[in-house]
Amino acid sequence: MTKLASLVRPKAVAVVGASPKAGKIGNTILKNVIESGYKGKIYPINPREDQIEGLKAYPAVTEISEPPDLAVIAVPAARVLEVAEDCGKAGVKNLVVITAGFKEVGKAGLELEKKLVNICRQYGMRMLGPNVVGFIDTHTPLNASFAGTFPRQGEIAFLSQSGAMLVAILDWSDAAGLGFSRVVSLGNKADLSEIDFIEEAAADPHTKVILCYIEDIVDGQRFLEAAGRAARQKPVVIYKSGTSQAGALAASSHTGALAGSDLAYDVAFRQCGVIRARSMTELFDLAVAFAKAPVPRGSRVAIVTNSGGPGIIATDNVEAKGLQMARFSKETIEELQEKLPAEAGIYNPVDVLGDAKADRYRFALEKVCADPNVDSVVVLMCPAGVTQPVETTEAILEVRKAHPDKAIFAAFMGGESLAEGAAMLAREGVPCFTFPEPAIAAISGLVYYNEMLNTPEGEAAAALPGIDRKGVKAVFYDVIKDNRLVLLGSEAAEVARCYGIPAAPVALTVSPEEAVAEAEKMGYPVVLKVASPKILHKTDVGGVKIGLQSAEEVRSGFMEIMNNVHGYLPQAVVYGIEVQKMMPRGTELIIGMTRDIQFGPLIAFGLGGVYVNLIKDVSFRLARGLTLREIEKMLQETRAYTLLRGYRGEKPRDIGALVDAIRRVAALVTDFPEITEMDINPVFAYEEGLSALDIKITLS
Ligand code: ACO
Repeated sequence: MTKLASLVRPKAVAVVGASPKAGKIGNTILKNVIESGYKGKIYPINPREDQIEGLKAYPAVTEISEPPDLAVIAVPAARVLEVAEDCGKAGVKNLVVITAGFKEVGKAGLELEKKLVNICRQYGMRMLGPNVVGFIDTHTPLNASFAGTFPRQGEIAFLSQSGAMLVAILDWSDAAGLGFSRVVSLGNKADLSEIDFIEEAAADPHTKVILCYIEDIVDGQRFLEAAGRAARQKPVVIYKSGTSQAGALAASSHTGALAGSDLAYDVAFRQCGVIRARSMTELFDLAVAFAKAPVPRGSRVAIVTNSGGPGIIATDNVEAKGLQMARFSKETIEELQEKLPAEAGIYNPVDVLGDAKADRYRFALEKVCADPNVDSVVVLMCPAGVTQPVETTEAILEVRKAHPDKAIFAAFMGGESLAEGAAMLAREGVPCFTFPEPAIAAISGLVYYNEMLNTPEGEAAAALPGIDRKGVKAVFYDVIKDNRLVLLGSEAAEVARCYGIPAAPVALTVSPEEAVAEAEKMGYPVVLKVASPKILHKTDVGGVKIGLQSAEEVRSGFMEIMNNVHGYLPQAVVYGIEVQKMMPRGTELIIGMTRDIQFGPLIAFGLGGVYVNLIKDVSFRLARGLTLREIEKMLQETRAYTLLRGYRGEKPRDIGALVDAIRRVAALVTDFPEITEMDINPVFAYEEGLSALDIKITLS
């Protein structure tokens, strides 16, 4: 029994607001329930009617002798609360609230929605909606929606935050030959959201691939856990809109969604194994690919084409998508060479030439599919006068039967003359496109998924030794008591030290003598920096002195900085001067953190220094649950990694120490949600060890 079994496979359904008047939503829903072939009991609810669509009608849900598992509500917004209350009293388990006029219309609507949720909580009911088209399960079967189309049965579960998008896709799907196991309009997601339906679809034996169109995610942490679990059972492909600034505003006004930062979505999806589609077209291309094709074992792609240009386009795309052009075995090359015309291309792409008929395609395809170095194949066809589209299609289907483990895709580049062949492929479940690019993009989605499945989940980082939470708390307490949110350098270094992050020694001093004493303790050379929360660019106000070698230089440096700062910024509150041990130069890196509203802290790693924003060589991961494997991947994604491994004869840097420092930063920002931002720039990486030089921490 799954959590939402009584919703998606109810024993009885009530339609509240059922109407005898054709064209009204309450009438359409009732007819949809009846016409979908639903086998359970159906109760139309209408206070004024005795009978609707040939079924006995009831004045209220409370009048039904046995409570239905599901009530679909289509009464005006002002009546929804009383109907929900009735449902609760009657013992209904689930509501689908079709009615609009809630959160999406503003404050009053939001209040109404909160009351509705409270009623559901009070009676232990689960709710889809409000503001939804409803849902359809083709296997129950049940159409609990006012959609105009009941889709054909299939293996795709489609969850859509936009009802309009859902009905459009349903209408289009029939012509596209696409079938669904379940479609769900998520609407305002006041109770149930994509998370619940992803979990449900993951457990549904009729669903092979889960597709989502979403505008926001309400509970980032829960999403990561649920989608991560689901993605290991079956592919989860999500198209998240609202990526642009303008798009984010449109998303807010649409279903009242608060669009999170797009980067965080990107990182979160990747980290939990969700495949991100970049358009509706790509979403459904991937759906077809996952529903129809076997997941290839690797990334080696073979191309068979009857013309050069499309072969080159396909090759370019293979590379651009990070796939590999398969290198055929010696036997394959010899056989192709022997049987194909001398002008044919026998390496990859295999060019069977413009005069190729079905038999030549069949031969080339057969050889390529039999090659153990090939994981997937793209068949390209342009309609030359002698091309045999239908016979070639038959050849493709026969070869596929003989090699069920190879993912075969087609791009039939043309119109009318290739339409019959393309339709045959669609019917037989071979993904067929008009151009090569989407075919390669779909293969890359399959390969990505396969790689994700083959990557062990990664051990959660073990408890870190040498952590002093109390020490951090004490620093934060002092900062807050001082009415500040930004830590001084010495305070930030102390926080880092408490978490075992190797910060260069630094001490706050208030007199030249104190500065000299600290410098003597640390050993020369030292750096002096003005300590003032208001001064962000210390160098610009003459607030930094580097490479000081003696007590005399420290003393005069101290005085000079004080004079400079008072000259530039006479009002600035100065806490003193920080003395920092001057560390030898290492590879300059950055480790940082920014906090996302949905997914929490995001860790950044990359090339550091003053040009960090210009160079933008940075990779990101979510801090929570960050595994060692993910940290290593994170390093490998940057160009900085090339430097770390030893560039142009230089010795490699201490990657182990870096991985450990990133882990510790992730632990620090996860343990202390009050840290809103953190930047360590630069971190110097050495052959042995690291040194965090400049640490900025901002609290909320
Ligand atoms: N119990 C049972 N039936 C009731 C009750 C009640 N407490 N109160 C009223 N009814 C009956 C009415 O008598 C009426 O039946 P009738 O046709 O026999 O008179 C029926 O329920 C419907 O009530 P109406 O007042 O006629 O409301 P109407 O059908 O015009 O509108 C609706 C109701 C459709 C729910 C409307 O309020 C609404 O929200 N429309 C928008 C729906 C929508 O767009 N949802 C989001 C989809 S997502 C997307 O973007 C496509």
